Amino acid sequence: MIKHSNYTVEPWVLRECGINLDVLPQSESVFALSNGHVGWRGNLDEGEPHGLPGSYLNGVHELHPLPYAEAGYGYPESGQTVINVTNGKIIRLLVDDEPFDLRYGTVRSHERVLDFRTGLLHRTCEWVSPAGCTVKVRSTRLVSFTQRAIAAVRFEVEAVDSDVRLVVQSELMANEQLPRSDGDPRAAVALESPLVSEEHFAADARLRLVHTTARSGLRVAVAADHVVTGPDSTRTSSESGADVGRVTCTAQLKPGEVLRLEKTVSYGWSSTRSLPGVRDQVDAALAQAMSTGWDGLVGEQRQYLDDFWSRADVELDGDEEVQQAVRFALFHVLQAGARAEQRAIPAKGLTGSGYDGHSFWDTETFVLPLLTYTSPNAVEEALRWRHSTLPAAQDRAEQLGLEGAAFPWRTIEGSECSAYWPAGTAAFHVNADIADAAVRYVTATGDEGFEREIAVELLVETARLWRSLGHHDHHGVFHIDGVTGPDEYSAAMDDNTYTNLMARANLRHAADAVERHPRKAAELGVDDEESAAWRDAADAMHKPYNSELRVHEQHAGFTGHQLWDFAGTRADQYPLLLHFPYFDLYRKQVVKQADLVLAMYLRGEEFDADHKARNFAYYEPLTVRDSSLSACVQSVVAAEVGHLRLAYDYLVEAALLDLEDTENNTRDGVHIASLAGTWMALVAGFGGMRHRGDDLEFTPKLPERLRRLAFKLHIFGRRLAVEIRTSSVTYTLLEGDPLPLKHCGEQITVTAGAPVERKLPVWSVHPAPAQPPGRAPSHDHQQPFDRDGA
Ligand code: BGC
Repeated sequence: MIKHSNYTVEPWVLRECGINLDVLPQSESVFALSNGHVGWRGNLDEGEPHGLPGSYLNGVHELHPLPYAEAGYGYPESGQTVINVTNGKIIRLLVDDEPFDLRYGTVRSHERVLDFRTGLLHRTCEWVSPAGCTVKVRSTRLVSFTQRAIAAVRFEVEAVDSDVRLVVQSELMANEQLPRSDGDPRAAVALESPLVSEEHFAADARLRLVHTTARSGLRVAVAADHVVTGPDSTRTSSESGADVGRVTCTAQLKPGEVLRLEKTVSYGWSSTRSLPGVRDQVDAALAQAMSTGWDGLVGEQRQYLDDFWSRADVELDGDEEVQQAVRFALFHVLQAGARAEQRAIPAKGLTGSGYDGHSFWDTETFVLPLLTYTSPNAVEEALRWRHSTLPAAQDRAEQLGLEGAAFPWRTIEGSECSAYWPAGTAAFHVNADIADAAVRYVTATGDEGFEREIAVELLVETARLWRSLGHHDHHGVFHIDGVTGPDEYSAAMDDNTYTNLMARANLRHAADAVERHPRKAAELGVDDEESAAWRDAADAMHKPYNSELRVHEQHAGFTGHQLWDFAGTRADQYPLLLHFPYFDLYRKQVVKQADLVLAMYLRGEEFDADHKARNFAYYEPLTVRDSSLSACVQSVVAAEVGHLRLAYDYLVEAALLDLEDTENNTRDGVHIASLAGTWMALVAGFGGMRHRGDDLEFTPKLPERLRRLAFKLHIFGRRLAVEIRTSSVTYTLLEGDPLPLKHCGEQITVTAGAPVERKLPVWSVHPAPAQPPGRAPSHDHQQPFDRDGA
């Protein structure tokens, strides 16, 4: 668990015993609560000490100029950065004149527990003030899944062994001082005090602050109300200023007496609504939450999560640490996407300001697959958000001299924010990734209305992009030149195989969709000639191949490049991008993250088994995993080609990335794609699940370390449970009509009340390929358990 810290291994909670201020910033990320709309980092109630104070509202950002040493046509000029909005979680405490602050006095005990089943973050602390006065502090926090504008805290202080005078200050605070950032100074200036006060209000135990952002012109309103209970001596007052609203409670407690505050906070923002409009919005949300009450909010939260876990839980027997990590992962992915509702799902969710709060292809390729089969509504919302950004993507395509839509590599509100075009605009594959996610959602759910209203247009506009970006050569072969694939250590290359194969599927899916929806096609101006041109391009798509080596090339000419000097690269020189110039990475055979290997998973139908094994063996020794998006993909394909131990090592790497802070940047927020990739490694990797169109197939394999792996899926209007044991697998239909599926190529039908059991095939074990020196995944989780149960 997080280095140097006292975290326990338990199946349903993340527990920290004691407090280690050295890893406070990381703990703030892993203990972050969010519903996809509101995000609160796991900052201490009293606000200080902190690593990074963070309260986020999905979509609320500030603009800043993007710097270029040399100008060029089509470079995005304006950057977007997520901002720390008004902090509603602060509750400061004064114990007989002394601030409750863990850096002073004595911390007798301290515990924080994030419970994945209740969605509550609990904290208990026994603290002796420097003057010797002992208090117990308990807080419970939630960000509501059911009331998306709402977050709440129950805060209690108990006197332990002497009478004590207490002051509790519950605040709304805007423009908090942030730790100095070492990033772009222009962005830092924009973020220093991003909120301009419009209105502040305090009366009784109610507070409200309304601000706007200076450049992006967004209006942010936050309101809070309190229920205070304590001994007769308890008094409450409130006040507000431009950037602070405060409810102050004073009380004198005798030993055993408790002062309790229930604080409910509502958040709202808008780029268009008036001040009274946004004010009323947060007041209304607050009124509703107050009428639900604390217990009601807690009850709703539990119900929401019971429902989620009944659809999404993954159980594994044999490795408790990974079991915990998998639930931690599922919980955080749910938090990122649950109520994002037509907003982006950022790479760090709402757990930190890493990557400036931007979303990437991470959403469609890593996060949405998991949500498609567990929380399809969240996928619909995420894709509707993409669709709502079509006008910006169409403008961008036009600016680039292309047809259709060019979706941004990184963005908050829809326009391109990447200032580095080789690993930004040139990564056109994001367009096919979006199309792929839309097709996956439509075929998994059968949501025809969504297909007609949203998916067809996404497919058509991205198909147009590919048709205009690529060209037929004089032999008729279709090429897409000068693009960057997932591997960011090769840029602006010709015919990236991943991009070509994803584009091929995109073009075909678009042609199929317009046939199914002729009226919509006519509306979008698609005629037979245009869709025939898409099919021609798809059929003629180039797939670079080295016939001497008998491997597919990551891009045309890749296998002819000089090999990276792996032997001469020291362990402390990874990630390579921080120690070597890009120009050198670009011209050598070195792979940052799964690229051709990802193509073999997502477009598996394009490769036969022999080539999958050969290609995997070729690219493993070149792949350095300098991106957190790699291990999970390598796990899936390692499992498919039969390297189960290696697949398990990669699963562990993906699963523990944040809990062990492997990349040393969990302080900036958790890695949502890698967390979602944990599910991918288990379900698509060891479960061998592949879904294409109306076909669902499983090729299950159990790694040595596990006794059992069980997961559930929502697909084709049914609920299916899959349970893999050491020598057999059982498919159980939990809900819905009989479900045809394939088990290792054999067609079977699963009906309710009649689970189908099949033997696991026996796999011949080949030695796994090696990784670049020093880059092998850790084998720490390999100690094989005793299958006889000893
Ligand atoms: C990866 C990208 C990814 C981004 C955000 C980069 O390091 O190379 O593939 O989209 O991080 O997670």
